[in-house]
Amino acid sequence: MTRSSAPLRVLGIETSCDETAVALVAFHDQQIEVIHHFVSSQIPIHQKYGGVVPEVAARSHVPETVSLITKALGETGMGAFDAIAVTSGPGLPTALRVGIEAARTIAYASKKSIIGINHLEGHIASAWLNEENRAHWKFPLLALIVSGGHTELVLMQNFGVYELIGQTRDDAAGEAFDKSAKLLGLPYPGGPEIAKRATKGNPNAFSLPRPMLDDPTFDFSFSGLKTAVRLAWQERQNPSETELNDFCASLEQAIVDILVQKTLRAAHAYHVHGILLVGGVSANEHLRRELGEQIRQELPETYFFPSDKAYITDNAAMIAAAGYWHLKKNEQTDWKTLDAKPDWNLV
Ligand code: KG4
Ligand code: ZN
Repeated sequence: MTRSSAPLRVLGIETSCDETAVALVAFHDQQIEVIHHFVSSQIPIHQKYGGVVPEVAARSHVPETVSLITKALGETGMGAFDAIAVTSGPGLPTALRVGIEAARTIAYASKKSIIGINHLEGHIASAWLNEENRAHWKFPLLALIVSGGHTELVLMQNFGVYELIGQTRDDAAGEAFDKSAKLLGLPYPGGPEIAKRATKGNPNAFSLPRPMLDDPTFDFSFSGLKTAVRLAWQERQNPSETELNDFCASLEQAIVDILVQKTLRAAHAYHVHGILLVGGVSANEHLRRELGEQIRQELPETYFFPSDKAYITDNAAMIAAAGYWHLKKNEQTDWKTLDAKPDWNLV
């Protein structure tokens, strides 16, 4: 009988934007056990400003980070984990520093390994937390990363080996949702609000552009869409609820069309084994459904790996998972030099 080795328990910490998150995840040979997965969202705090205020975000992270780490470690304290993974970038500089300083302090006190993780690699790893996805996980994989700050198509040749296939030339998909919502007078964050209204609207009611859809590259552009929203909406005098819902459905359809078609084209070109759908915008049900259906129809041999609902928006279980990939290869960061990298590109 073969004895399985002891699990590697990783303490994950994420404070790059408006969510304070701490997780404790045990990685066994064949299985992953998420022991704790805490997320404290600052959305209600930022809602009154209509967007994230960096200084407010950083200050709010401080008490939450301490409280969630204390809760995750419990009475076992420093004995509860074997290594630490912390988001080092990209993100808001002062917000990132809160998680990083907490992580460095714990690394010094516990004498355990620490690794700085790229937030986007964390989003990629969120799909790997799902057991079924893991069972079929084989390279090369294509990841569509869609969040508030990023829209990227990344080719993954192995754990930690990435190639940038396409990216947005201006706004991210999440920004297209958030900025359009603002123009429509809807609260922050706009994505969930537009998605909710879209379920009650007609996606063909308004004709909105699909910028760069016929462009041969795998790049995206969403700023033209935002301008089209402004022009189309400012013509409306006293729009009805039905018109607003129809507009949201038309806008969501435009964004989904662009994302789905570019992703499928890239998957065809690179002959990938599977397609990952990750990042905050992947919470969009319409996007999940359309991409899943198109893959089944056009690329029946290709797996579809969306991340679990629990790990879509910013969280620390995904940071722990990416940390595990690196720690398994004996990669770590010196706690003395670990610092925030606010503009850190994945590739
Ligand atoms: O990954 P994430 O939590 O934070 C960043 O790293 O940016 O993504 C947040 C983004 C926001 O732009 C938000 O509007 C969008 O994800 N989002 C959605 C939905 N839920 C969140 N966009 C469209 N439909 C949704 N259901
Ligand atoms: Zn994110």
